[in-house]
Amino acid sequence: HEEKTKVKNIQVVELGNYEIDTWYYSPYPEDYAHAQKLFICEFCLKYMRKRKSLDSHKMKCKLKHPPGDEIYHTAVPDSGVTIKPSELEDSPSTTQLKQRESSKLQYLAVFEVHGKLNKLYCQNLCLFAKLFLDHKTLYYDVENFLFYVLTELDDTGYHPVGYFSKEICSVEDFNLACILTLPPFQRKGYGRFLIALAYELSKKESKVGTPERPLSDLGQVSFRSYWTHVLLESLREHGGNLSIKDLSLMTAIRSEDIVSTLQPLNLIRYWKGQHIISVSPKMLDEHLKNVTSQPNWVIDPAKLHWTPPA
Ligand code: COA
Ligand code: NA
Repeated sequence: HEEKTKVKNIQVVELGNYEIDTWYYSPYPEDYAHAQKLFICEFCLKYMRKRKSLDSHKMKCKLKHPPGDEIYHTAVPDSGVTIKPSELEDSPSTTQLKQRESSKLQYLAVFEVHGKLNKLYCQNLCLFAKLFLDHKTLYYDVENFLFYVLTELDDTGYHPVGYFSKEICSVEDFNLACILTLPPFQRKGYGRFLIALAYELSKKESKVGTPERPLSDLGQVSFRSYWTHVLLESLREHGGNLSIKDLSLMTAIRSEDIVSTLQPLNLIRYWKGQHIISVSPKMLDEHLKNVTSQPNWVIDPAKLHWTPPA
């Protein structure tokens, strides 16, 4: 790709409370492309070269969340915070318990942003994301895509931590085009959460899905981890008695991805010209033992406020 040969231009971006080192080149407009650092409004994603500009922008910018519909929210345990039983007082008051409870929880919300309705926001999002993606992605032709932005909520607003994009009408069954977890928030399970959401949307559409290729190394690791986990769990639930087609219908994972996930685990056999699943409960237990995991937040389909686009 053309972009691969281009030298990284912007070195650092400031977003909300975070200063983030960039990874790759991104085609910001000429006037910005040579800045060492960009200041980015975390709500509208407008980019600026000076802190002064950001400060005055903040006075005017009315957004407190991505410009779209909230389709999902949930509370998850705040990572890194665990309370040992020994730390609990003998008889804490209800308020103390409530405070404890709330300090352990992180509120997450997902917004769906339409490329056509919020073109500038989506373009800004793509330019920003390219700083962390090494292959070409879309930047300006965002109209045919939806963007699912994951945010953490606090009393100052909904702060973006990651997103994925999805083609509105994919003839190739793609349910995800690009995915990004912002570096300060990586390895906390957010990538997994976004991938799970992409598959929940596919289920609601009664379709199978697969991510657009090529996948980056990190993308590959994350999808493989998701597929392995979901497929092994489904097999365990059904005592291993499922065909590839059954699994695909239940999980919305495409058959090819099921085969490529289970084959290296030795759970697939080729029989009479077909791939079939061949697994004993003992083998499943062995593999499930090896499934290390970031927090694995299950998405509750009943709480998902979303209907497939007409
Ligand atoms: N090294 C090894 N494993 C990693 C990893 C790393 N740097 N980052 C994530 N993983 C693994 C995790 O261990 C986890 O697997 P497990 O549950 O089996 O342990 C799985 O990937 C998902 O981890 P999670 O914390 O949910 O992912 P994340 O929030 O860090 O996001 C990406 C994953 C791919 C979205 C993120 O790395 C990213 O944004 N990368 C840059 C952009 C990119 O490459 N996108 C994909 C383009 S196709
Ligand atoms: Na990609």
